[in-house]
Amino acid sequence: FDPDTARAVDRYLVDTLVGADAVLDAAVAAQHAGGLPDIEVAPTGGKLLHLLAKAIGARRVLEVGTLGGYSTIWLARGLPSEGQVVTIEAEPANAAIARANIDRAGVGERVEIRVGRGEDVLPTLAGGDPFDLVFIDADKESNTLYLDWAARLGRSGALVVLDNVVRAGRIVDQTDDTSQVAGVRAGLEMLRSDPRFDATALQTWDAKGWDGVAIAVLVGDPGS
Ligand code: DHB
Ligand code: MG
Repeated sequence: FDPDTARAVDRYLVDTLVGADAVLDAAVAAQHAGGLPDIEVAPTGGKLLHLLAKAIGARRVLEVGTLGGYSTIWLARGLPSEGQVVTIEAEPANAAIARANIDRAGVGERVEIRVGRGEDVLPTLAGGDPFDLVFIDADKESNTLYLDWAARLGRSGALVVLDNVVRAGRIVDQTDDTSQVAGVRAGLEMLRSDPRFDATALQTWDAKGWDGVAIAVLVGDPGS
């Protein structure tokens, strides 16, 4: 395995299938200017989210972890004009940068940013219309809590996408006892054992290096 070749392949795939996008470039630039970490999804991953939303005809999307709104813009662009992304961000400064990025992208009417910790905001969404797609990309320690809420708030058949499930291979390093890797493992274990989910995962090598994404379908009725 040659990381330089992998990097070149990713550039080729992005150039060939994703293309240049001034609005998304501006969002990343504003995120960096605001001092946010460089951990938004890669262009290929953003387009995957976009295509998944389109493919299932999603109207309501829930995102946990807005950061600067990069993935939020990709998701919002996959929805019809009356669709909605509800995105949760714990850090008010991040939410302000995301709001500006999302508005500049022309999808502001489709995006509601809820500022607060996931564990506090998610219960307030109960009783609303169910979500068609849930993207979880926040603190890894809370993966199981977020997956539980995804199962409660998603419709039967909804997609649940969990980011960062490989962490450069650290998930199989038995000496890695960090809380983040423990949270990733717990999330994957829940996707296996909790009957509300039917899941797989893919390793990815993209602009963000070696990581992976789990994709699950919700089985059964919301609220079960
Ligand atoms: C981290 C978080 C992410 O969601 C990501 O995509 C990459 C890194 C992190 O917390 O290190
Ligand atoms: Mg992530």
